[in-house]
Amino acid sequence: MKRTEMNLPELVRCVVDAHRQEPGPLLVVLQDLQDRLGYIDPEAIPLVAAELNLSRADVHGVVTFYRDFRSQPPGRTTVRVCRAEACKSVGAEELLARLEQTFGVRVGQTTPDGSMTLDQVFCLGNCALGPAAQVNGRLYGRLDHDRLAGMVQREAS
Ligand code: FES
Repeated sequence: MKRTEMNLPELVRCVVDAHRQEPGPLLVVLQDLQDRLGYIDPEAIPLVAAELNLSRADVHGVVTFYRDFRSQPPGRTTVRVCRAEACKSVGAEELLARLEQTFGVRVGQTTPDGSMTLDQVFCLGNCALGPAAQVNGRLYGRLDHDRLAGMVQREAS
């Protein structure tokens, strides 16, 4: 995740300017903003709307439709567990359920202490080595609960 020294209106303008010439730039603008901030700050929605000459409802609708967009900052560690078919067939759902239980969060949530966000993803391109997950962007395969939970605890500490 890239941090920025710009204030939010400056950042939004910069991101929109970088993508303004692309066809239907809203999605790519939102993805770029989330890459830079880690989430879509709700205060950015009217700014993006004004820059792209869209309604706030248009922008809000896209942010809420796509599950990859988050409206709150992620935890210090982000875990994305693959739930696509190949990983499901080797225990991804059980892995996810145990992680939820261990850390007291559901998919899409962040622990109350801000240490970890649990997300889902549908294929990480590591299908032969499932169950697969990413921890802070790094890919791991053949995971079991103890190994993944241990990694999360180490990363979050
Ligand atoms: S199905 Fe999980 S990595 Fe492809």
